[in-house]
Amino acid sequence: MTTLSLTTADPAKEQTDVLVIGAYAGEESPVAADPAYAEAVAAAAVAGASGKAGELTLVPGAGLVAAELLAVVGLGGQDQFTPEVLRKGAGVASRALAGHTRVTSTLSLVDLSAAAQGHLLGAYVFDRYKTPDKAPVDAIALVVHRNDEAAVAELRSAVVTAEGVLLARDLINTAPNELYPAAFADRATAAAQTARLSVEVLDEDQLAAGGFGGILAVGSGSARPPRLVRITYSPAGATKSVALVGKGITFDSGGLSIKPAQGMENMTSDMSGAAVVIATVITVAALELPVAVTAWAALAENLPSGSSYRPGDVIRHYGTNGEPGKTVHVLNTDAEGRLVLADAIVRAAEEEPDYLLDVATLTGAQVVALGNRTMAVMGTDDIRDRVAELARTVGEGGWAMPLPEELRESIDSPLADLQNINWDRVGGMLVAGHYLSCFVPDGLPWAHLDVAGPAFNTGKPYGYNASGATGVPVRTLVAVIADIAAA
Ligand code: BES
Ligand code: MN
Ligand code: ZN
Repeated sequence: MTTLSLTTADPAKEQTDVLVIGAYAGEESPVAADPAYAEAVAAAAVAGASGKAGELTLVPGAGLVAAELLAVVGLGGQDQFTPEVLRKGAGVASRALAGHTRVTSTLSLVDLSAAAQGHLLGAYVFDRYKTPDKAPVDAIALVVHRNDEAAVAELRSAVVTAEGVLLARDLINTAPNELYPAAFADRATAAAQTARLSVEVLDEDQLAAGGFGGILAVGSGSARPPRLVRITYSPAGATKSVALVGKGITFDSGGLSIKPAQGMENMTSDMSGAAVVIATVITVAALELPVAVTAWAALAENLPSGSSYRPGDVIRHYGTNGEPGKTVHVLNTDAEGRLVLADAIVRAAEEEPDYLLDVATLTGAQVVALGNRTMAVMGTDDIRDRVAELARTVGEGGWAMPLPEELRESIDSPLADLQNINWDRVGGMLVAGHYLSCFVPDGLPWAHLDVAGPAFNTGKPYGYNASGATGVPVRTLVAVIADIAAA
């Protein structure tokens, strides 16, 4: 991984490979973020730089700075500036500078945390199956005015959070032949043990004994049985608790209600919710936030076979307080996420957390509604709005969505307590939200994050995202938990 450090040395005199500087878009020409580089930015302007957000201009450092190469990052109009503009710019620079060993960045003079995260996230390459042509930047020195305790702490928390994002990306990018439920559980266990958190894994026998009918049904078509992972961080003196529940379909073929071939390969990312909640609890522990957090990963592989569950099956979810769980008429085996989540939500709620947040690549309708870069947030009003707002603050993008009352009855069943889809297909994302809400106890503040679009980038790299896993919404969840800690 790329390493970051702090420096107070005069960047213009640093004998590094590349010096990164920022430039705002001015009226006619770009304006150096740091007046010390006015001349360098003028030279970049000759090479075409305008200061437009996301733009990167490379010019020789000769005569301008001691570095071999000067990378000028566009920061857009100064009046429209947000930390996300800088984060993206730093990411663009990291990606473009692959192959260089030593980079010094002055973007940290504008915003240390955003520069650190953008540079680290942008430098990420998933190299498990292929060595990239150019190695990621080896080391980036971030320029600061004072290398004091505050700067060190700010860098550390930015790096720890980015590492959480990268842990999630690594899990999600791992191919589904290698990452089946038990393999995921093993990796989650190893990560939790390294972080000295307590872990519990329920295997298929324990799931059967416990009555986890949703997780078992979804996993029944695969030769590789399901798991339920629980990782707990409980700092002494915590007065608030949060349960995180993640959808962990290690591959979603649709099951007997099979998906079309084209695009099915992207369903390797259908465990993004589980990866994100595991990464979040580990990050929150590393940050030592004073909130108790339990992450639940509901893991199953959804495949068609002679043993798989069928459309027409009636299954029973996990029940609580000695009561039998709700029965569900399965009408479509491709609406499997809600089935594994419902079991895990009921189980998580048994522990009476103060908040319950679930994360899932739940519906194609989410992508239709909000596109690939904005997550949908449903749930109880206050926490839903807080999550959506914080998602925007951290630059992950989020929008609150309603659970319109009239849609609720579309999943009433004449045969069972519920059915898992509505045939008329209207409001698919919201209907899925309604389904989950049936399993959330009254009065428990709950948010459901549907990240079907933003979790996985099926297109070209952009900003600080590579193709493949983005790690969304790790940074949102960490921000939400920090916000709960601060309240
Ligand atoms: N994992 C999919 C949702 C998905 C679609 C995630 C595209 C990422 C990108 C989910 O399990 C699914 O198949 N949902 C169905 C539900 C339908 C059968 C009610 C869908 O959205 O089509
Ligand atoms: Mn599905
Ligand atoms: Zn799915």
